[in-house]
Amino acid sequence: MVFFKAFSMLSSRLRSRATVQRSNLSNSVRWLQMQSSSDLDLHSQLRELIPEQQERLKKLKTDYGKVQLGNITVDMVLSGMRGMTGLLWETSLLDPDEGIRFRGLSIPECQQVLPAAKPGGEPLPEGLLWLLLTGKVPSKEQVDTLSKELRNRATVKDYVYKTIDALPVSTHPMTQFATGVMALQVESEFQKAYDNGIHKSKYWEPTYEDSLNLIARVPLIASYVYRRVYKGGKFIPVDHTLDYGANFSHMLGFDNPQMQELMRLYITIHSDHEGGNVSAHTGHLVASALSDPYLSFAAALNGLAGPLHGLANQEVLLWIKSVIEECGENVTKEQLKDYVWKTLNGGKVVPGFGHGVLRKTDPRYTCQREFALKHLPDDPLFQLVSKLYEVVPPILTELGKVKNPWPNVDAHSGVLLNHYGLTEARYYTVLFGVSRSIGICSQLIWDRALGLPLERPKSVTMEWLENHCKKAFSS
Ligand SMILES: CC(C)(COP(=O)(O)OP(=O)(O)OC[C@H]1O[C@@H](n2cnc3c(N)ncnc32)[C@H](O)[C@@H]1OP(=O)(O)O)[C@@H](O)C(=O)NCCC(=O)NCCS
Repeated sequence: MVFFKAFSMLSSRLRSRATVQRSNLSNSVRWLQMQSSSDLDLHSQLRELIPEQQERLKKLKTDYGKVQLGNITVDMVLSGMRGMTGLLWETSLLDPDEGIRFRGLSIPECQQVLPAAKPGGEPLPEGLLWLLLTGKVPSKEQVDTLSKELRNRATVKDYVYKTIDALPVSTHPMTQFATGVMALQVESEFQKAYDNGIHKSKYWEPTYEDSLNLIARVPLIASYVYRRVYKGGKFIPVDHTLDYGANFSHMLGFDNPQMQELMRLYITIHSDHEGGNVSAHTGHLVASALSDPYLSFAAALNGLAGPLHGLANQEVLLWIKSVIEECGENVTKEQLKDYVWKTLNGGKVVPGFGHGVLRKTDPRYTCQREFALKHLPDDPLFQLVSKLYEVVPPILTELGKVKNPWPNVDAHSGVLLNHYGLTEARYYTVLFGVSRSIGICSQLIWDRALGLPLERPKSVTMEWLENHCKKAFSS
């Protein structure tokens, strides 16, 4: 009986994988295939994949190097390069209407096929890391092996903590976190190898070592910052029986199984959002100078700390709390409308709404909403977030200039964390940062494996643009 149940669960999982395989025809998912339990070593899998992808890039350059991808307009230059295709980013791709796909898989598909800690549970972030790096859905055994490897790499030297301790406790958690990441750089394998004259064909290997170490170590630094700032410096060590997400939750001080599930989901969905967003692009740009993963990722974190990007999750919860302070918990839709207008008339943005590329509700918002509907439907802040979903988009549409009036990932995350007791909004972007290490470092390994060059776009002055346009009109 037990055997039959396990067999039917396995076959339904395999069926769902096969459906995903059939429904995806894009080139990047051609790697997607059923995994046998053999070959548990991520490094050797990558070593096998790299030559094929190097050849693919070479052919792309030789055969299609001169094909045009579109026209660049003055508007594009003046509006933060919106709509300008200019980056190669293998790990994920964003569709304005559909949202993100990780190696061709949407978020619901990832939830369906990536191994979970328990049947029907949220994906394990280690599985997503495997997927981003290899383009293949890993088996549970592969994920468990990677989990163990990350735990073994999760050691942080004392001087890193002392560097953080040199900052006042009141320093913003993101500054403390980025400082800790910079201090980790002391142990960079890439820098050592470069100093020792490594051949460029081997760059990806120490980049891989640094990246896996970094991914393994950031939860320790992040939880250190949390416990330092909010829990009187009572630190909690790694639990060697737990997976990546559960361990992070544990080190923060949250052992509720639902919070662990939330953390797995949170880390999975915040990891990567193609290459042009501020943090990903910054990491990629800095790494293109052959700065090692620690230097590159610390730079990315500083971009993530901006309120129009990663800090928006902090801003959302603070904004929601200010609504409650002014209107009470049972705020009506009319009161909400007034508050939204007050925010806009004060020359501020409504945090958690809008996006640089997306044009529909962010699927990362949707899956967090589903989590809330399943686990905390009666939470008053969740109900307020649901009301905002009805109230804000029509107002932003009425403004006439907002390209996407729908909620983004940040509109929801804070309310879920708040529900389980992680109430300190100023800390939220650090969680985002831990998750981003997975996406940014995965692409960074491929940057070095593919030998991508120094990034150096051309800039021009207003005078140059004026002269160029005048000439274009007169000819
Ligand atoms: C994400 C964001 C920075 C994208 O900016 P963008 O690509 O320039 O967006 P748009 O092209 O739609 O912006 C056009 C105008 O609408 C405004 N706008 C966009 N989203 C808005 C929002 N949520 N509230 C108020 N105004 C908004 C912009 O500020 C801009 O105004 P301006 O012309 O006076 O400068 C923007 O939507 C925003 O500030 N959102 C709130 C912060 C947030 O949630 N960030 C997290 C993103 S995941």
